[in-house]
Amino acid sequence: MINKPKKQMKIVLQMVAGYGGEFKTWRLPEAKADAYTDMDLYVELAQLAEKGKIHALFMADTPALVNDIEGNTPMHSMDPLIAMTSVARATEKIGLVGTFSTTFNEPYNLARHLKALDVVSHGRVGWNAVTTSTQGTEANFGQAIPTYQERYGRAHEFIEAVQGLWGSWGQTAYRHDKSTGQFADTTQIKPIHYQGEYIKTMGPLPIPPSEQGQPPIFQAGPSPEGIRLAGRFASGVYANPFTIEEAKAYRHMLQAEAEKNGRAATEINSFTGFMFTIADSKEEALARRRQILAFDQEELTQRLAYLSAMVGLNHQALDPYQPLPKNWLNLAQSNPGDPRSPKALEILKQGYSPIDTLAHGVINYHPVVVGTAKDVADFLQEWFEAGACDGFSIVPDLAHDGIKSFVEKVVPILQERGIFHEDYEGSTLREHLGVPYQYGK
Ligand SMILES: Cc1cc2nc3c(=O)[nH]c(=O)nc-3n(C[C@H](O)[C@H](O)[C@H](O)COP(=O)(O)O)c2cc1C
Repeated sequence: MINKPKKQMKIVLQMVAGYGGEFKTWRLPEAKADAYTDMDLYVELAQLAEKGKIHALFMADTPALVNDIEGNTPMHSMDPLIAMTSVARATEKIGLVGTFSTTFNEPYNLARHLKALDVVSHGRVGWNAVTTSTQGTEANFGQAIPTYQERYGRAHEFIEAVQGLWGSWGQTAYRHDKSTGQFADTTQIKPIHYQGEYIKTMGPLPIPPSEQGQPPIFQAGPSPEGIRLAGRFASGVYANPFTIEEAKAYRHMLQAEAEKNGRAATEINSFTGFMFTIADSKEEALARRRQILAFDQEELTQRLAYLSAMVGLNHQALDPYQPLPKNWLNLAQSNPGDPRSPKALEILKQGYSPIDTLAHGVINYHPVVVGTAKDVADFLQEWFEAGACDGFSIVPDLAHDGIKSFVEKVVPILQERGIFHEDYEGSTLREHLGVPYQYGK
């Protein structure tokens, strides 16, 4: 009897600023402190991810310096387009998804950059289209943050215009035929005359189609308009649920929205954000997280206060280094407004001290596994097989050793279990994602 092949998860890797999801890991002995400006290291990490058959690299971005970098690493790369270009020239298969704002860009410029890079990388580029609501960004562009409706109104038009520009060369317009002397068939290269409420652009672009036609769209942000945008355009969504139930509901909502737009549910892949610290034992992994927490005592105090509030306790009365006494545990309650709090309470109840509970990553912005490679693989398998997502957007605590641990230890377990591919399905990002070829609007 032939076994039916198992459904396999897709994995994108967050490159953050060259470090990882924890902004103080740059001080660990394993870290390269100046990784932010070291593109050679960035490229090396990308090559390692490609060896592990990771579907794509993902670069979040906001066009501003958005966090306090006195003691923390930046939240984003110096510039996603430059990072993607550097990686594109030194890799062959891995997809390259960059985040670019629809509010603080012009469609012609962005369409041109991404299409050229898509051609240069032989069809491996994706665009995470965000509307940018981060305060402080607007001043860089001499304007206010537009209203929610305006941001999304512009986003729909922006993507339509970019896709229109991407399709402004006919599929066979690029002739470069020495014998006939025809370089391009200009009858196939046409302006798009896009005229919307927010966007006007004419085209054509000076660029022929890539191997995947044009980059697939990604989206992030769960507000109603964000979901509408995703349903219409996105092949991938970067999501941040904290429970399997929440993730399933979100995935179904995205699939229904895609179907409303005449697309198949399978055309939209939801990637659950997930963070990890891997070591040979759970105790070693926790020790690394305690070391990271100890880099900043002031922040640690704030985190302890946050954790205490999350389970309804007064932090000043707690000993951060000791398990909570029974009577305190009886008083503690998880906060229905915070989906992370049941897990925090559960860990406290297992007898971990408040600091060790924090070391489990209970107040991080994605679910976290702190443990062995097998613990990580178990988590990914459980969520994936429950139908919570199509894959994961993974964030190591520190990229410098975290990507290696994932590729060398977690990937083989997932492959052995038949839930992660042994090799890339093709050569383009669309083929990796299993989404249809698209050219033009
Ligand atoms: C998992 C996740 C990742 C996101 N990544 C980015 C990003 O890289 N850049 C950005 O400007 N916004 C990012 N956002 C913000 C969203 O695009 C969105 O602006 C935000 O959720 C606010 O919602 P609204 O814009 O729909 O009001 C992200 C949101 C989520 C949930």
